[in-house]
Amino acid sequence: MPKAKIVRVEPLNPSEEAIREAAEILKSGGLVAFPTETVYGLGADAFNPEAVLKVFKVKRRPLDNPLIVHVSSLDMLQQVASEVPERVVKALSIAWPGPLTVVVKRKSTLPEVVSGGLDTVAVRSPAHPVALKLIEAVGRPLAAPSANIAGRPSPTRAEHVVEDLGDEIDMILDAGETFFGVESTVVDLVSPSPQILRPGPLGPEELEKIFGVKFGLPPYARGLSSYEERPPSPGMKYRHYAPSKKLVLVEKGSCDTTTYFEFLMKQLESYLKDFPALIATKETVDEVRSKLGDSLTYFTLGSRENLFEVAKNLFSTLRILDKYGRVSIAISESVEERGIGLAIMNRLRKASSERITCKQKQL
Ligand code: TXA
Ligand code: MG
Repeated sequence: MPKAKIVRVEPLNPSEEAIREAAEILKSGGLVAFPTETVYGLGADAFNPEAVLKVFKVKRRPLDNPLIVHVSSLDMLQQVASEVPERVVKALSIAWPGPLTVVVKRKSTLPEVVSGGLDTVAVRSPAHPVALKLIEAVGRPLAAPSANIAGRPSPTRAEHVVEDLGDEIDMILDAGETFFGVESTVVDLVSPSPQILRPGPLGPEELEKIFGVKFGLPPYARGLSSYEERPPSPGMKYRHYAPSKKLVLVEKGSCDTTTYFEFLMKQLESYLKDFPALIATKETVDEVRSKLGDSLTYFTLGSRENLFEVAKNLFSTLRILDKYGRVSIAISESVEERGIGLAIMNRLRKASSERITCKQKQL
């Protein structure tokens, strides 16, 4: 039995009693994991520095990797941020509540530990009824990173939170599987030109529609470069989501679909003696299975035609892979870098221990 009290709640209509109990714990400096529409968060009262420090400690998160502050309204944003331009407030009135985190100037009254010493703060208003009701019941913003041990895949089910933090925290509100399965899109609105820091469910096209400007997408936001080049948050230099098994990401690169499939097959065949696992879309799994049969293990993420489904299954698949005794190496397919596909590729690149890229032969 984990130490944390686990309470099941209806995602759309959580019991008031459960919300009240969780809010009391948070008000008195405790830690509560709660569902959001992206992943489960580990909440603490953002204005209680000891509680926030506890979050870093139980997650084993370096203190220079800042947390996201969760608010239930635009008014609450003003408690943690300063000098938010009117055009940003207007855009947020469209995007919130939703899977969008904005990095803006920090209000000096917000404890520094929340922002890892930066003069900016990351804020979002989650679209999950349980999260919103909980923030409202506390009446204060909640600092809440994903509720996993640092470096592990973010939790998309309460069971994942129990696995990582069940004995370290006070309560877990269990509302079943989260909706998107990847963390929110994080954008930097304090740099001279707006940048995507971490791709998520809201893609560049949607951001442009909401804010009326184009957002930059630096290589580290695609999970590409090393972080030597000074990302805006020191936290972005840390490796993420890495399973304990070897994970080889096979990138499509400049190849057409047929050449890429042949390249992927070649990689799989070269590892066959190790009894590898394939992590891929349903279409690819079906095709590979018809050729290689039971000589490998298959993890299906969902249809290539629905990248939201692929995103939703990604983290739980990485967790299953870790526990799957027979497999010591996994080969992952890549997906198209558009919309939520950008978020999937960012996470896969950060999770992989090796990347191999297909190159189209010139005629
Ligand atoms: O969907 C989500 O965003 C989830 C749910 C629980 O809301 N939360 C989440 O938090 O993913 P976390 O702490 O795991 O990720 C926060 C990310 C990190 O990459 C961190 O470096 C970045 O946001 N971040 C936080 N504050 C920042 C700041 N002031 N400037 C730049 N990046 C910041
Ligand atoms: Mg996280």
